[in-house]
Amino acid sequence: MALYTETVMDHFMNPRNVGQIPDADGVGEVGNAKCGDIMKMYLKIENGVITDVKFETFGCGSAIASSSMATEMIKGKTVEEALAVTNRQVVDALGGLPAHKLHCSVLAEEAVKSAVKDYYDKNGIAYDKEAFPCDHDCEACRMV
Ligand code: FES
Repeated sequence: MALYTETVMDHFMNPRNVGQIPDADGVGEVGNAKCGDIMKMYLKIENGVITDVKFETFGCGSAIASSSMATEMIKGKTVEEALAVTNRQVVDALGGLPAHKLHCSVLAEEAVKSAVKDYYDKNGIAYDKEAFPCDHDCEACRMV
């Protein structure tokens, strides 16, 4: 069996929604402590609905495919629906990832959450801080 599904290869070779949104309502940047890869996510939000999303990923093919799929999954959804998207759902939508590449999909889930958090912060919307990835680099994370 091939290491990567056709869907993974498709999203890696032809990633959807690559780029930036200059006037984004929320921008999130997350890094993977294990490999140093970085993902940046831009959200345009109108009336609580994600009307546009773009990403930049400086990372492996699985991270690129995961972020591409994640953007497709959250576009047109409410902010709450986007927050409910898990890396497991992204992996399932990709038809699976090799076990040693599952951590790459976590970056996609965290990038979405980080961008929503930025949107909440900019608009003074209260939220449960525990539900979001931490946004600072600390010793505990580097040891993951
Ligand atoms: Fe770094 Fe995949 S190896 S995100």
